[in-house]
Amino acid sequence: MPGMKKGRLLETRQEGEDMLGRGLVVAVIAAFIAVAVGLLAVAQEATPTKAEYEAVMKQINMTNIDAEGYIDAMYWPEVGDAVGALEKLFARVENFWEVRQTEQAAALADEALSAVSTLSQATGAQDQEAARSALQDLRGVCESCHKEFREETVDGYRIKPGV
Ligand code: HEC
Repeated sequence: MPGMKKGRLLETRQEGEDMLGRGLVVAVIAAFIAVAVGLLAVAQEATPTKAEYEAVMKQINMTNIDAEGYIDAMYWPEVGDAVGALEKLFARVENFWEVRQTEQAAALADEALSAVSTLSQATGAQDQEAARSALQDLRGVCESCHKEFREETVDGYRIKPGV
């Protein structure tokens, strides 16, 4: 019967259109996800705000403690991961101070990055003594910066007012 054939043809065409529609929805969702992931990546690289700065410091602190344990255990790939994390975190710290034109603090962040770079070399060479000494140097930089730019309050720490 010709009528049936026509109906089938129509159905097939509708199915085709449905699939096209679905394809479009999937593409739009994928585009949204791509943008969201991109924004997240930008946010992680971006200069931290004052509120984010504290969180960055806490991450630096934990990574620094982890690194010590990994060096003691000679878990070099993990030390390498810690080095990578510290590089990113201190780059954000440096950025923070550069934007505020606090040159001395930016220079200290740069010094921290140098110590991290020395740690990276020691890690590559799997040299425990050199790694420990680089971590020690890094901690010296933490202290210098805290003395100049950090202030203790009743409920923790803050950036010294006026810097
Ligand atoms: C360039 C300066 C600078 C360097 C380098 C630096 N810090 Fe800080 N840090 C600060 C300032 C300023 C604060 C206060 C900000 C805050 O806590 O809100 C701070 C706060 C902290 C806090 C307290 C966070 C809180 O409020 O609970 C910890 C922990 C910390 N730093 C650890 C470290 C460690 C560990 C290192 C080195 C591996 C380091 N910092 C290197 C400037 C620095």
